[in-house]
Amino acid sequence: MATECTVIKMQAGSSEKKDILMLAIESSCDETAAAVVRNGREVLSNTIYSQIDLHTLYGGVVPEIASRKHIEKINQVIKTSLSEAGCKLSDIDAIAVTYGPGLVGALLVGVSEAKAISFASGIPLVGVHHIEGHICANFIEHPELEPPFMCLVASGGHSHLVLVKDYGEYDIIAKTHDDAAGEAFDKVARAIGLGYPGGPKIDKISKEGNPDAIAFPRGKVEGSEYDFSFSGLKSAVLNYLNGCRMKGEEFSQADVAASFQKAVIEVLVTHSLKAANDMGVKKFAIAGGVASNSSLREAFTAACKENGIDFYYPSPIYCTDNAAMIGAAGYHEFIKGYRSGYDLNAVPSLNIGEKQGVFLSE
Ligand code: KG4
Ligand code: ZN
Repeated sequence: MATECTVIKMQAGSSEKKDILMLAIESSCDETAAAVVRNGREVLSNTIYSQIDLHTLYGGVVPEIASRKHIEKINQVIKTSLSEAGCKLSDIDAIAVTYGPGLVGALLVGVSEAKAISFASGIPLVGVHHIEGHICANFIEHPELEPPFMCLVASGGHSHLVLVKDYGEYDIIAKTHDDAAGEAFDKVARAIGLGYPGGPKIDKISKEGNPDAIAFPRGKVEGSEYDFSFSGLKSAVLNYLNGCRMKGEEFSQADVAASFQKAVIEVLVTHSLKAANDMGVKKFAIAGGVASNSSLREAFTAACKENGIDFYYPSPIYCTDNAAMIGAAGYHEFIKGYRSGYDLNAVPSLNIGEKQGVFLSE
């Protein structure tokens, strides 16, 4: 990570391209985050205050507590991020902020903060879609990655297969009809007594379990071969646990976790690879919190290799919520001329590719 913020300003009559420094802010769920990103790819700082310990006490994210903590932490996180990047606010060319989807009270903290900084400093503002941010996290460590490519976004709230046609241009190829993959990880973890956050705990304990111990179902959606469904799998795990309890039998946390995880991964990999092959895609990426799952990364690495597809994935720190990914996505919006005004609002159920309060400047 660079620590100095050297900005090449364009000289009069020079064709040298000016660097764009983006201050990015993310507060859509339980991470208060800020980052400084140069030209959409180079992360100068990436500051994350995670509220996980706080929400662990309640077994999941409590929206009001998340908003209150964001309010408490956001100025400090931004200050640290600018200082670690070696930047002053006056070096910043644009502010990118997540405005949806997410928890409304949590989003409002980041949006209000970004608008206040923009208003006071005159620095242009651009609202960014959280899931588009997750996808763009792949640009940070793969300078060679350019659209078109296909990306599986699997997080706590979303499971989408997206065709990235160009920078900022997305076609949704498939989505979940019920639970998101991360949501299923979290619910199953709670049911087997692992607690919150479920994904990393299942990932860890699965290494000690037998993935073939229990034959859990592979979710299918009638009539849409690429789409996902995880609620049947979740119910099958709950039924299995109830069955054990009724028979007075112990169950193995590690075997249930490993068998459940295998079922999720198999569905994500087979549906994704079928879509990629059918559409002649040669580059495939993964994104979102679930993309940090070690077995999922191994399974995609093997499947992509077998199918002659180049595979990309971000480091775990750029898979879970962070602001660097918002700076990466915001850069492409900004250079295309997209801006937000002081009427930018939080949009909790914003669709991928949709814009509200983000418009093309003259
Ligand atoms: O992208 P993210 O940080 O927040 C959302 O936008 O939702 O994703 C959080 C989700 C949670 O459901 C968490 O359990 C899951 O990602 N997750 C994982 C792993 N790390 C985080 N799931 C499986 N394996 C992991 N290692
Ligand atoms: Zn996320």
